[in-house]
Amino acid sequence: MPRDLAALKEDTLQGMPQLTKSPEEVEGRQDQKMDAADELKLFRHMRANAGNNSKRDELHPYTQTLSLSDIESCILLEEATFPENERCTREKFDYRLRHCGELSMGIFTSLTDSDAATAATSAPVYSGAPKRKSVLLGHIIATKTTNMTVTDDDMAIPDDSADSEKYGHKEAGRTICIHSLAVLPQYQHRGLGKTLMQAYLQRIESHDVADRAALIAHDKLIPYYETFGFSNRGESKCKFAGGGWFDMVKDLDPGHEE
Ligand SMILES: CC(C)(COP(=O)(O)OP(=O)(O)OC[C@H]1O[C@@H](n2cnc3c(N)ncnc32)[C@H](O)[C@@H]1OP(=O)(O)O)[C@@H](O)C(=O)NCCC(=O)NCCS
Repeated sequence: MPRDLAALKEDTLQGMPQLTKSPEEVEGRQDQKMDAADELKLFRHMRANAGNNSKRDELHPYTQTLSLSDIESCILLEEATFPENERCTREKFDYRLRHCGELSMGIFTSLTDSDAATAATSAPVYSGAPKRKSVLLGHIIATKTTNMTVTDDDMAIPDDSADSEKYGHKEAGRTICIHSLAVLPQYQHRGLGKTLMQAYLQRIESHDVADRAALIAHDKLIPYYETFGFSNRGESKCKFAGGGWFDMVKDLDPGHEE
């Protein structure tokens, strides 16, 4: 069932921490007391986030696992977001969505007037309004591996070579390899990436799919992934798209329900 995420409580102003603490709260915790400049910084950050969240909520986004029927939208989304050498090819999408589509997730909107690059390939929503389409705004594409971090072999797909079996998805693996997190450029910076990643991690944890999630990231996105609980395990050995990646890993709590 699509899940309308507009009402995520944690992102509303109501759910935010108080800016000013009472004297009782501050007493004995002088080390944590914020000065005026820090308070102002936090206030500005929260105000900016509130704006981003309301722009996200206008879309009534919902998340769903992906299947082979989403391949054309995934390709368009990847073309719009990644430089050519970092994109997932059609062959890789076909392999990943065919073999383990349930490990991948999309964030969608069903607005009828969407100008998204993926609007043309969107599928009708099963509702009383035939014009409503399920438009892909962002995706996470993943497989599993028996390795502890993402390797070039995990990112490859089986071919005709003799050692082909070491490539691609490993059903028995306990590490989720996140190959791609992407949000269409005109929908970025409004919390869709965060909503998608949080929904994804919650799903794989509650379904006991793996013990950890791993991805490779360029240094500029390390702080972003740290906000989801990933930790930087140092330079990756991956040579994919010229290298220069860092291994990010998040230990999961399989079976955990929010
Ligand atoms: C990374 C990405 C998925 C984030 O999606 P999003 O919906 O914009 O994410 P959110 O709104 O939840 O968070 C935005 C935050 O991400 C971080 N961020 C996004 N792009 C960034 C970049 N290029 N450099 C540094 N930080 C970045 C910032 O902290 C940003 O905060 P801001 O909005 O206050 O500037 C999106 O920017 C994207 O698709 N980028 C291109 C593809 C990519 O690089 N994917 C990651 C590698 S697999």
